[in-house]
Amino acid sequence: MTAAAKSTVALAAEQAAHWNGPGGQGWLRAQARLDHSLVEIGRRVLALANAQPGEKAIDVGCGPGTTTAALAASVGPEGHVLGVDISRVLIEAAATRRLSNATFVVADAGTHPFEAASVDLIFSRFGVMFFADPVASFANLRRALKPAGRLTFVCWRPPQDNPWSLAPVKAAAPFLPPLPRPGPEEPGQFAFGDRARVERILTGAGFAGLAIEPLDVQIWMGKDVADVVANAGRFGPLARSFADADPESVARAKAAIGEALAPHATTEGVSLPGACWLVSARPG
Ligand SMILES: C[S@@+](CC[C@H](N)C(=O)[O-])C[C@H]1O[C@@H](n2cnc3c(N)ncnc32)[C@H](O)[C@@H]1O
Repeated sequence: MTAAAKSTVALAAEQAAHWNGPGGQGWLRAQARLDHSLVEIGRRVLALANAQPGEKAIDVGCGPGTTTAALAASVGPEGHVLGVDISRVLIEAAATRRLSNATFVVADAGTHPFEAASVDLIFSRFGVMFFADPVASFANLRRALKPAGRLTFVCWRPPQDNPWSLAPVKAAAPFLPPLPRPGPEEPGQFAFGDRARVERILTGAGFAGLAIEPLDVQIWMGKDVADVVANAGRFGPLARSFADADPESVARAKAAIGEALAPHATTEGVSLPGACWLVSARPG
């Protein structure tokens, strides 16, 4: 079967298998590092969402619950946050936070039967790019919003604008099996890179008042080059290639990553440019 022929059912099954398998385990293992790398982006998207005391929110693709906890603090004891994630292992980790005003559910946020018109805010930090049928999924999320509610999320711009991701992949590529390339309409980390596609999806799902603003940030990759190299391929696109390659090729790929990233090392660690869209909308 070619990538173009994959049905939404097959794509959804692939995503569920990934996030309940190596994707979820990798994210959990790297959680402390990822939270450090994403702290500024999280701060910016949370500020844009501007959750208020007493509000009800849904954190889509909440993972281990870092942003759910921040939202729970903002909505306070009179409010509530529902963290939704397709990955059981990540939801189990999130539930250990024991937040008094948040609950967590293992579900596909694109099809979960949320109570209609029940929440003020649909929020996500990098959890909305993996829907097999994004228009239907965002329509499902829109139905959960109160008429005066809002949608706020952050997603990545294209790989070429994100050297933190592209530079290690390019450096390692000559030594590894080729990476799978998702089609332009398929789910994946960079599936929302094309601003026009994001507009099309949200409009098609019944959202209006779209604001899609660029956010440029430095992404922390590790405390020094040795740290970056030691953690390369622990999760993300390189993980699968590393798993499929022999140890000698992995060692050569890691050495190439170290060389490529060395110019970006400072006393603060190794950081490379990252580029996101900060997106907000309301039910149309
Ligand atoms: C890149 S991680 C981001 C996790 C978290 N938001 C954070 O910033 O730490 C993407 C998350 O989306 C979740 N996810 C993917 N598809 C999903 C779906 N259809 N419904 C709910 N969660 C989904 C994954 O399991 C994963 O936890």
